[in-house]
Amino acid sequence: MKLSVNGKARDLTCPPVTRLADALRDELKLTGTKIGCNAGDCGACTVLIDGKSACACLVPVAQVEGAAITTVEGLDGNGLQTAFLRHGAAQCGICTPGMLMAATELLAHTPTPSRVQVEDALGGVLCRCTGYAKIVDAVMDIAIADVPSPASGDAVGARIERLDGGLKVSGKELFGADEVPEHSLHLHVIRSPHHRARFTIADTEAFLRNNNGLFAVFTAKDVPGLNRFGVIPAFVDQPVFAVTEAIFKGEAVAAVVGTAEAIKTFDSATFPVHWEVLQAAQSPGAALHADSHFIQPGRPKNTLVEGHVERGEIVNGFAQSAHTVTQRFTTPFIEHAYIEPEAGYAQRVGNRMEIYGCTQAPHMDREAIADILGLARTDVRVMPSACGGGFGSKLDLSFQPFIAVAAWHLNRPVAIAYTRAESMAATTKRHPSDITIKVACDLEGKITATDFEGVFNTGAYASWGPTVANRVPVHASGPYFTPHYRAHAKAVLTNCAPAGAFRGFGVPQSMIALECSFDLLAERAGIDQLEFRLLNALRNGEPTATGQVFNKGVGIAECLEALRPDWERAKQPQARPLHIKRGVGIATCWYGCGNTSLPNPSTIRIGITPNGDVVLHQGAIDIGQGSNTVITQIAADALGIPVHHLKLVGPDTDLTPDAGKTSASRQTFVSGNAAKKSGEALRALILRETNVADDAILTIADGTITIATRSIALHDRPINQHGYVFMAEETYDPPTKPLDAMGQGEPYAVYGYGAQLVELDVDTKLGLVKLIRITAAHDVGKAINPMLVEGQIEGGIAQGIGMALMEDFIPGRTENLHDYLIPTFGDMPEIKSIIIEVEDGHGPHGAKGLGEHVLIPTAPAILNAIRNACGALVRHLPATPDKVLAAIQEVERL
Ligand code: FES
Repeated sequence: MKLSVNGKARDLTCPPVTRLADALRDELKLTGTKIGCNAGDCGACTVLIDGKSACACLVPVAQVEGAAITTVEGLDGNGLQTAFLRHGAAQCGICTPGMLMAATELLAHTPTPSRVQVEDALGGVLCRCTGYAKIVDAVMDIAIADVPSPASGDAVGARIERLDGGLKVSGKELFGADEVPEHSLHLHVIRSPHHRARFTIADTEAFLRNNNGLFAVFTAKDVPGLNRFGVIPAFVDQPVFAVTEAIFKGEAVAAVVGTAEAIKTFDSATFPVHWEVLQAAQSPGAALHADSHFIQPGRPKNTLVEGHVERGEIVNGFAQSAHTVTQRFTTPFIEHAYIEPEAGYAQRVGNRMEIYGCTQAPHMDREAIADILGLARTDVRVMPSACGGGFGSKLDLSFQPFIAVAAWHLNRPVAIAYTRAESMAATTKRHPSDITIKVACDLEGKITATDFEGVFNTGAYASWGPTVANRVPVHASGPYFTPHYRAHAKAVLTNCAPAGAFRGFGVPQSMIALECSFDLLAERAGIDQLEFRLLNALRNGEPTATGQVFNKGVGIAECLEALRPDWERAKQPQARPLHIKRGVGIATCWYGCGNTSLPNPSTIRIGITPNGDVVLHQGAIDIGQGSNTVITQIAADALGIPVHHLKLVGPDTDLTPDAGKTSASRQTFVSGNAAKKSGEALRALILRETNVADDAILTIADGTITIATRSIALHDRPINQHGYVFMAEETYDPPTKPLDAMGQGEPYAVYGYGAQLVELDVDTKLGLVKLIRITAAHDVGKAINPMLVEGQIEGGIAQGIGMALMEDFIPGRTENLHDYLIPTFGDMPEIKSIIIEVEDGHGPHGAKGLGEHVLIPTAPAILNAIRNACGALVRHLPATPDKVLAAIQEVERL
């Protein structure tokens, strides 16, 4: 099969029915073309065929004989790629090749496109990270322009390009499926097609004899160590392979290993397993009323865990109130829908196990894999690939245990790449919630009491359910002073895929209930919604719902004040057609950065080689949020050298100290502090030897450190076990205090704050919601890199829009990206980001975390704006047109 690829004549040997995407990746090793869904839904595999963009996963190679194919590797470092870097248009980077190819086609015939033209041309490519705005900006601004590198000491606060961005725009970034060792076997997981079923596996020897290319079957009895894993030590409850009963649809019961070709064509239906379908409980309502040990033994009433925070006298609080509102809200499962499905490989090296692939938590993975294989932790190495989005779900193990068990027994590399359906069916989700809330205020509008009861569907296994149940009651007051408060959350086991971590750990669900109820309360009190929030906003010196008092850094009032000009403008009457109603809504967030009242350390190492290379061992996984860049900026300024002088190593559990997991908006705060301490400690070592002033200018070049009038020849110095002549390794662990039985204590050293304002139109005939503009003010303490801050805000808002208006994961029904909708270019309104910097007392340079915060206010602000437009409050998400119409009709009936 002859064709031209990136200007070179190629002769493919694969069968004519091979997908072009597979031929490019497997035969030509052009892995810049990514596979996100293999169904033409995500556009990650977009290439140019004779100049026209197409999804390479939908095109058999027979169809492109003689054609000219262009992939991202065929782009020439042109202005488009540098514009993506300059504008921060690539976050995790998994969608970036597809975006670049679609944009290349557009720019070939429309060199100066309008915003709408860009959105139309790139509309077939999904991005889950960026919110799309910076991608459009980049395509509209491809003139070559240099971004100057900041001088020593000026990196913090600079809008520098992502330090790892070059790989992302060139297609050279390697994700989990992009690197497979020669002679690898491949693995397919046999999963339960039933929500609950007993099973028996028949003669696997006969099965293997009858299937050429399949070499081995693994089940629970083949797990050498512990057939369980989990993310919280007291809740390690998920088996690698179910033993006799599968308790959610998608649960693994066995794995089949064979050649790549045999696994690709393998039909799960031929596997010899017999299912006996059992009654399932898929909702907390059903599970709470099922037999006491229905889902998991030892969990009475199928309740996994409960969290509670109480302060003041809740009964008295309501008794003293002038206005009271009681509401109930529900939200569904929400799928992370990162564009990179889980993938990686495992290989046994002597008596050690190496795992390569996408993850958010390499050191946690190492511990769990060691337990599963019965090895010492030091005998497991986790080598993270680039991570094509995570948002919380890649904190949990997924593919790793299967390939580890197989590679251990077979002593050959074993690789896996989840299909989109498998990724959606088997990995964790955002917890569905059912929340009843009662809020009250006095005659002046001061909040008197909040009573919150939340039931969360945590699925079949614990995952991060305990974290959600504990974090929600701490946050359900919102960033408001609440004298009388009671919040209770319960995580209930069901026969659904495990619910786990997803950007906010249950806080987004709780803030929908609180912020929508506060709009009703403000209305009862006759107070403007913004003024109500400002009147009650937590201030320095006031206790939170857990009794914690911050004397510095509480920035919610500043966020709300920043919205005031847009709020006043947006409230002005708009001339609209009769059935189109303009609405404006507002909501806030706060979010504690890091683990709740638990140790949460990060360690960062910086070393100087005899040649003068300055090496930063940065183990914090960059899932697109930018920790590779932000932590380097902080380290560079602390040491006193230009940021581009630092070379990055890691993450890799053999090479980088433990920087903790990438979750809970902790990396800028916790790992940033560790980087700052390490940089300062290394500088102190050098200053001590040279005895020069603290602020002396430091240069490291040609094997020599020069500082003030002194110099140190590096080649003459002894080298330590890491290969460095100077080295510092420092740890930072945020100061927190445990919560007592009433939830009183100091769960987080730092909170971040934010407020968003939504302007939208509601078509009252069709129930359609059109977002016009979102203004977002977020207090980050100190913006280490403002461009990355904006990227987080825009991306978080996109996920909040999805949560508000369209996303609804139904186990067994929406396990693909055409039934499960996420926001596209066309769903995004204009976003105006306002960065607020109220310095924090603990963060590096006063910085606070941001990643989770940005999603939280979006959905409640949208629901409040819909109600403001047409009087209809949608209480059961998502607010799809049918639900908006039903809510409008409910109002009309009253
Ligand atoms: Fe687009 Fe991550 S940058 S999916």
